[in-house]
Amino acid sequence: MNYLIGIDLGTSSTKTVLFDETGEVITSASKDYPLYTPKNGWAEQKPEDWRDAALETITKVVKESGVNSEDIKGLGISGQMHGLVMLDEHNEVIRPSIIWCDQRTEKECEEITEKIGAERLIEITANPAMTGFTASKILWVRNNEPENYAKCRHILLPKDYVRFILTGEFATEVSDASGMQLLDVPKRQWSDEVLEKLEIDKNLLAKVYESPEVTGTILPKIAEKTGLSTSTVVVGGAGDNAAAAVGTGVVEDGKAFTTIGTSGVVYAHSNQISIDPKGRVHTFCCAVPGAWHVMGVTQAAGYSLAWYLDNMGAAFRQEAKEKGCSVYQLINEAVEATPIGANRLIYLPYLNGERTPHLDANCRGVFFGLSSMHTKNDLARAVLEGISYSLTDCKDILEEMGINVNDMMACGGGATNAVQRQMMADMYGCDVNTVTATEGPALGVAILAGVGAGLYDSVETACHKMIHKDPAKECKAIPEHTKEYHKFHQIYKNLYTALKEQYKEMAKL
Ligand code: XUL
Repeated sequence: MNYLIGIDLGTSSTKTVLFDETGEVITSASKDYPLYTPKNGWAEQKPEDWRDAALETITKVVKESGVNSEDIKGLGISGQMHGLVMLDEHNEVIRPSIIWCDQRTEKECEEITEKIGAERLIEITANPAMTGFTASKILWVRNNEPENYAKCRHILLPKDYVRFILTGEFATEVSDASGMQLLDVPKRQWSDEVLEKLEIDKNLLAKVYESPEVTGTILPKIAEKTGLSTSTVVVGGAGDNAAAAVGTGVVEDGKAFTTIGTSGVVYAHSNQISIDPKGRVHTFCCAVPGAWHVMGVTQAAGYSLAWYLDNMGAAFRQEAKEKGCSVYQLINEAVEATPIGANRLIYLPYLNGERTPHLDANCRGVFFGLSSMHTKNDLARAVLEGISYSLTDCKDILEEMGINVNDMMACGGGATNAVQRQMMADMYGCDVNTVTATEGPALGVAILAGVGAGLYDSVETACHKMIHKDPAKECKAIPEHTKEYHKFHQIYKNLYTALKEQYKEMAKL
């Protein structure tokens, strides 16, 4: 039997999974690390923590599995996107990584737009200047820490730093590189025009591969430390969403997924490049060679529910404690006991501003329609509905762009909640399915590793063989519900339009 390793370098932990070639999990291990917020709006992590977590979890899965290391044919890494890792001439980390959710670079985004031009920037990088993306973070270091910038010899993304540790190679791949805002996304190569206009030396950047391509093999010292073999190939891998797409079988036109974690993503595969000229959704290269994906992002999806529970959910928590059940079970019961529209209560989930569809850092969360008759149950239902309206906005834009979605999967934390899945199916007006495999991004990059190692012909054929829908969890859209949600969704949309100017005024105070 052949085996493959998938590593998922997340924001709270790194998870490493050893699969057999049919996609069965043999062993898995994960290790947490901290996130540092030295100032309001800043978010940093230590690349050394990612390195240690990867080495420790690889060692654990290899040893515990008892598998012959020569049989582990390939390894793939998936990771949080956009983070900036800078190495000096000795390949030492210069400063902590400024990661994807850091918001310090508003000025640098203006600088990028001014130097390249708003339209041209979208034409080349397929996205408007974003505080989360890597280019603005590079400029921030140059503007604010010139001594660190002067020392920099290599710029890497989080998962590509771990690749460097494992293989000694400076390499990246198209899906993650798309989130740097330095890639010509239609051409799938670094953009000389963007690099020249931003005066960033191309030599600082890694070599760009397609996601299933082999980028190197395991260094002897790492093989000795982890129990891996020097013959195990390390493929390009993918950014977390592109990897989750492979792990969910979303690798062909018509297929899409919704994931609800802290943020929410609606992701659709597209064989043709499709760019929103208004920049409301991201277009990135995907992990299938020669294809792209378009995705809308709801900033505070799962985060909205967590915020509600932390600040207004004490009664739910107390009841859960008394009954010895999960607080989410009680939330589900509350939602099911409340009619669609939460007794005329609407929640806008803009707790952290919004990416899709408004691209507005100033907008804020709202409960609209509060009445003395409302209870905690109505608020809980309104929060879940608000998250789902926002995800429906993402899907609507994909359709407006001509991307046909006829097969919607749910993955990530939100996918495990049947009530949330049914709400999504009803609002979208289409069936929502899940897959039997639960390893998402780790399985996705293990499949890419299998393609790179020659075990499978292509990403698509591997997905056909290994990824299966879970018929027991299918949620069918109920047309009467779709109609009812549609009425409230119109008011939800109008609320943003009505409040837009007031959000700006509020931000000035
Ligand atoms: C994608 C994005 C997140 C991060 C962290 O644009 O910001 O999905 O990759 O998970």
